[in-house]
Amino acid sequence: MVTGQNLLPSHRLRLRSIAMSVLHDKRILLGISGSIAAYKSPNIVRLLVKSGVSVQVVMTDAAKTFVTPLTLSTVSNREVLSSFTQEENENAVWNNHVDLGLWADAMLVAPASANTLSKMAQANADNLLIATYLSAKCPVFFAPAMDLDMHKHPANKANMETLIANGNILIPATSGALASGLEGEGRMEEPEEIVAALETYFLEKSLLAGKNIIITAGPTYEAIDPVRFIGNHSSGKMGYALANSAAQQGANVTLISGPTAGNSAHPSVKVMAVTTANEMLHACLENYDAADAVLMSAAVADFKPMNEIGQKIKKQDGLDAISLTPTTDILAELGSRKKHQILIGFALESENALQHAQNKLLRKNLDAIVVNSLADEGAGFGHDTNKISFLQRDTDAVHYALKSKEEVAKDVLNHLKNIFDAH
Ligand code: CTP
Repeated sequence: MVTGQNLLPSHRLRLRSIAMSVLHDKRILLGISGSIAAYKSPNIVRLLVKSGVSVQVVMTDAAKTFVTPLTLSTVSNREVLSSFTQEENENAVWNNHVDLGLWADAMLVAPASANTLSKMAQANADNLLIATYLSAKCPVFFAPAMDLDMHKHPANKANMETLIANGNILIPATSGALASGLEGEGRMEEPEEIVAALETYFLEKSLLAGKNIIITAGPTYEAIDPVRFIGNHSSGKMGYALANSAAQQGANVTLISGPTAGNSAHPSVKVMAVTTANEMLHACLENYDAADAVLMSAAVADFKPMNEIGQKIKKQDGLDAISLTPTTDILAELGSRKKHQILIGFALESENALQHAQNKLLRKNLDAIVVNSLADEGAGFGHDTNKISFLQRDTDAVHYALKSKEEVAKDVLNHLKNIFDAH
């Protein structure tokens, strides 16, 4: 999740210095609801406008008791909208929430009162702000602001969880002195941090914008007979984390996935489900010419039964041995056909990890290889974490600590971005 809070101060500073380019020319809908924190909203508008953003304010009637439309229309340089219709020369004009929802690159609801959060979660479209929210096709950020007891009430928490589950991005409330005189969690995040959260989102989204990336994930299954197969314990988690992170960073991702369970792909990822190494090979080749990069994180079976037996092998018939033949090495095949594509392999090694991985990098004509060692606890198959080294030709390996697979995915994609930049 992108929030202003989970950024290191140095990261914030770096983002601030490139903020102009990230937010410049973006169109943002600012929804303002009834909370004392609305007095900070003009400052949000001011910071966004300073970054080159076109800001359209949509406010609820309750918000007007805390901040005037005139203040907001002055700082945003646009008419403020708050009702479904307005009078123009005594004719009613429809404020089209669908058009507003399509216009925006992002919607930010700040402050988001408990009442507005509830309406957003329940699709209770009794004002223009909620109707616009429900019509929005863009990412939606919400910055709650309310008294601490309201904030921690289970009903409010449930609404926030619903909103997050629906794909909205929370900019968490902070702790401090509240308007009620109480101290606690419920203060809207500061305008600078809210803008930083938007910057982070657009920065991450743009890192791989427009790149076509093939990612393979999971195991392959090679049939012995109609019910049995040779497979492995790969969960596909690393490949799905890579695919989802690349999609969030603006890449067009084709995820070629062997059989896995419990993984879900970002809505913009094109998923191709395959079973065997041969099917994975063909899916890769089909998409290879248009690809800018391939991340081969699948655990492809190295061998398959020489002949698939058409009928289920009966126990009483016995089976002494299964004759095996190698599958095609997909990555080596892609390496031999390589033109403009960046190829990144993955290697799980049990000994001399870097040396073996270096050999694979050269043998398969790769640009880089992600190495993990079975000797490292928490790395490899099935875990939610991974500990990797990133190895490129002619540069020293970069070693990382044990991290979640989502964080590892970001590290790998940062390397990919650097390789693209160097090309
Ligand atoms: N790979 C592949 N096709 C195969 C086997 C492996 O594309 N038939 C890819 C994997 O997806 C991975 C890389 O090659 O990105 C390295 O896989 P690995 O199993 O470590 O290497 P192998 O070449 O199979 O070598 P070995 O099993 O002997 O270590």
